[in-house]
Amino acid sequence: MEKKVVKVGLLGFGTVGTGVVRIVQGHQEDLQKQTGLGIEVHKILVKDKEKSRSITGMQELITENVEDVINDPEVDVIVEVIGGIHPTKEYILAALEQGKHVVTANKDLMALHGAEILQKAQEKGCDVFYEASVAGGIPILRALVEGFSSDRITKMMGIVNGTTNYILTKMSQEGADYAEVLKEAQALGYAESDPTADVEGFDAARKMAILATLGFRLPLNLDEVDVKGISSVSKEDIAYGKKLGYTIKLLGMARHDNDEVEVSVQPTMVPKDHPLASVNGVFNAVYVHGEAVGETMFYGPGAGELPTATAVVSDLVTVVKNMKLGVNGRGMVAPYKEKKLKGNDKKLSKYFLRLIVADKRGVLAQITQLLAEKNISLDQVLQQPYNGGSQAEIIMVTHTAAKADMDDCILYLKDMDVINEVKSFYRVEGGEA
Ligand code: NAP
Ligand code: HSE
Repeated sequence: MEKKVVKVGLLGFGTVGTGVVRIVQGHQEDLQKQTGLGIEVHKILVKDKEKSRSITGMQELITENVEDVINDPEVDVIVEVIGGIHPTKEYILAALEQGKHVVTANKDLMALHGAEILQKAQEKGCDVFYEASVAGGIPILRALVEGFSSDRITKMMGIVNGTTNYILTKMSQEGADYAEVLKEAQALGYAESDPTADVEGFDAARKMAILATLGFRLPLNLDEVDVKGISSVSKEDIAYGKKLGYTIKLLGMARHDNDEVEVSVQPTMVPKDHPLASVNGVFNAVYVHGEAVGETMFYGPGAGELPTATAVVSDLVTVVKNMKLGVNGRGMVAPYKEKKLKGNDKKLSKYFLRLIVADKRGVLAQITQLLAEKNISLDQVLQQPYNGGSQAEIIMVTHTAAKADMDDCILYLKDMDVINEVKSFYRVEGGEA
């Protein structure tokens, strides 16, 4: 008998899992019109069955035993919204082994073990989709894989972590305190259960590894992403950035030029008139530059119950459409380009530097002489009295320089007698060759 309803085994019933149930139930008629089949949540795995849930009437579907879900012969698709690496990796591989399709929102898992999971899916003729893993409600993975399939992408920049963007926005617009705003972001369900991953940039790094792999069509590893988080960004850095025409963002940057690739996540001074500078709060944005298309930008909510669930359920719709056509597992293209990592001598950027120095004659000259010896020239300089005037604070923005020269220069600056402290040091977007 022909199937009338596709049955979903939901692993996780937290923020995203709840959103998935709401959308599957609330949009049933639309989903049916688009796929020709009903979609039903058939079983739900949780950690604690006794926990009270914001959606009632599902108790009979809920279990604490994963085998009740993945071994259920009626379940066609597993939707994994638990998070983390273990035991989710084992659950997904076990589900694929049984020929069940998988939709996941798990960037940690896909950034680290995506290749293995996709390989298993291909062997078993199953779909694995993970649109919600990057930039929540923005359909950016589909855009990279399908929308830009005819182009060569050379650069991607992303504000891909809602929590840190929310924190930096509040610090910048309201002068709010870092710790207080982090608590708010956690209460609103944006932050990961351990917010270290958000504030130290690891969450964004995982997303950038996924974007670079799909966008550049080469197998980028997570440990090849340079990462720096926002926990040391101060109100002063934000204020001086503003004075010089910049907004600080935790920016993921991926470039593929002259057949070499570089990917980083770091707090970056973005010029105020750049479209990424006005991406505020929990919103995410991904800027994509393609050789043929030129500049494009995708903007939307990067986290939260319903935005993330729309991406999950859209993946579900694709699985169901593929089931109807009998083409599951056939659409995947494994990364096929050779990966050559760019050396620090070829990573070009402008830099922002804030130094505390002795307020003495000739100090600025010594600093500029060192910069010149390292092939670095200055674009902007600002000097302010510091600590009641006994010291001075020098804020500089350089012209484009190589990362190798800049790193070297920082080491020398830290050693100079006239420099009391290198307070901060950020990449500045724009100006590179
Ligand atoms: P969450 O609210 O913490 O929910 C996790 C769910 O998984 C809970 O229902 C929990 O059960 C269940 N669970 C945890 N460990 C389990 C285990 N060992 N066995 C069985 N069930 C277990 O997480 P979330 O925010 O929905 O995030 C889910 C996934 O989506 C993560 O990969 C996350 O990175 C990703 N994501 C989240 C967002 C967002 O805005 N939240 C956005 C994009 C992607 P109990 O309910 O019983 O505790
Ligand atoms: N903690 C993540 C963020 C959730 O803040 O962006 C979405 O992946």
